[in-house]
Amino acid sequence: MNKFKKILVTGGLGQIGTELSLELINIYGSENVVITDIRDSLPEKLQDKALYTKLNVLNYEELNNLIKYHNIDAIYHLAAILSGKGEENPFACWDINMNGSMNVFKTSIENNVKRIFIPSSMAAWGLGIPKQDVPQDSITRPTSIYGVTKVAGERLCEYMFHKYNLDCRGIRYPGIISSETLPGGGTTDYAVEIFYEAIKNNHYTSFIDKGTVLPMMYMPDCIKATINLMDADVNKLTHHGDYNVAAFSFAPEDLAREIANVLPAFTIDYKPDFRQAIADSWPQTIDDSCAREDWNWTPEYDITSMTKDMIAKLSERFK
Ligand code: SER
Repeated sequence: MNKFKKILVTGGLGQIGTELSLELINIYGSENVVITDIRDSLPEKLQDKALYTKLNVLNYEELNNLIKYHNIDAIYHLAAILSGKGEENPFACWDINMNGSMNVFKTSIENNVKRIFIPSSMAAWGLGIPKQDVPQDSITRPTSIYGVTKVAGERLCEYMFHKYNLDCRGIRYPGIISSETLPGGGTTDYAVEIFYEAIKNNHYTSFIDKGTVLPMMYMPDCIKATINLMDADVNKLTHHGDYNVAAFSFAPEDLAREIANVLPAFTIDYKPDFRQAIADSWPQTIDDSCAREDWNWTPEYDITSMTKDMIAKLSERFK
């Protein structure tokens, strides 16, 4: 049986939002999924499939009215500024990530929203953490403003749960690789851009340097993790806004090798930029045993199956 009656996805036209919304529509039906974002209208793939309202999450009144109007009982709050863009404007990053989330908490309390999802990220970690198998309960000392907002978001989820009995959940996403919608301004975006360039030009110049291993995940697993955590029995959860999840880890040259196995003419070179310092502060591998135990998390894709699927999907689109 479906857990919720009417779901809101903020940031629903972003990299994760687009595919999460499509999956929620499959499960709950078009009439039960409301998308908000700051674009004027829905892209073609979502047209006539979902209810859409252009809305900035910083506008409390509009957000609150929307939630009342639709009787929303679950929110996936994905509207945020990511790590790369965050460094270009730290004050805007704090404003959107923190005040946007505070608006979501406030309206959820006011309207008795049953459950909310606010993603965290591996950006919550920082220098001084173990690089391998970073444990569930570890120090979080982020060096990026985005990471600072993610740690604050994690603590707020915990706080709101205890103070207001508001059921907030979140995952520390690794880098997410996907074929539908481009990511918007993250450090791990290189691992998506590389596929587009491989198919169009057989070459990619990576802004992340050779040897930089980062945790990554393919979108179908990201969607599965997100929905499974939201559907999990609250009594089984030992954490709230900060679940570690992992799938696979690689450096740019590892991904380049996988791509070259399918597209033999592909080549890569490296021109690291300011995002290298962010990547260097993040772990290489993550211990996700807590998510596996609490809500049966298991990923399906590895680097090879993800690469084959990405190339098949994008080749079809650009042929
Ligand atoms: N993919 C995100 C970023 O690079 C991490 O959560 O900002």
